[in-house]
Amino acid sequence: MTNIQTQAPTAPVISQTQASAEDINGTQQYMAPLVWDLQALQISTKQAHWHVRGDNFIAVHKLLDKVTDHVREFADMAAERTVALGLPVDARIETVAAKNSLPQMKDGFQNYGETIKQVVAQMDAATATARKAIEGLDDIDLSSQDIAIAIEQGLVEDRWFLAAHLAVDN
Ligand SMILES: [Fe+2]
Repeated sequence: MTNIQTQAPTAPVISQTQASAEDINGTQQYMAPLVWDLQALQISTKQAHWHVRGDNFIAVHKLLDKVTDHVREFADMAAERTVALGLPVDARIETVAAKNSLPQMKDGFQNYGETIKQVVAQMDAATATARKAIEGLDDIDLSSQDIAIAIEQGLVEDRWFLAAHLAVDN
């Protein structure tokens, strides 16, 4: 008979974050509304991509697909910053539907002018949320603020590309 004692192997333990609780909570406070708006916006831009009509159909239809891709990436950046710091993000469909700040879009087919006005109104709401995050994160976490700045820049650029279709000569 041997006298060897076996020990159950212990799983390596590592902290899931090195950020302070204050920084993590602050980041979540400003990033969550941005995630909700961006998740809602990518559904709307796809809806607009499918239902746009009119003279500029091909250009606007293709542009709206690019905007959807950008907005999906922006949502990922905002959500993953919070998760990387150690907190979950509640971006379930019911939460996004209840908490996003975007104005409602009309249902059904629309001419490209009406489509762009509605998408731009939604982008403006998401941009306002991004700017609140930029301001609020200034004293909390500069890396998270950088992400909010990049998202604001991207939304503003895509707004320009869309709104330019509705410019009129003076
Ligand atoms: Fe498509």
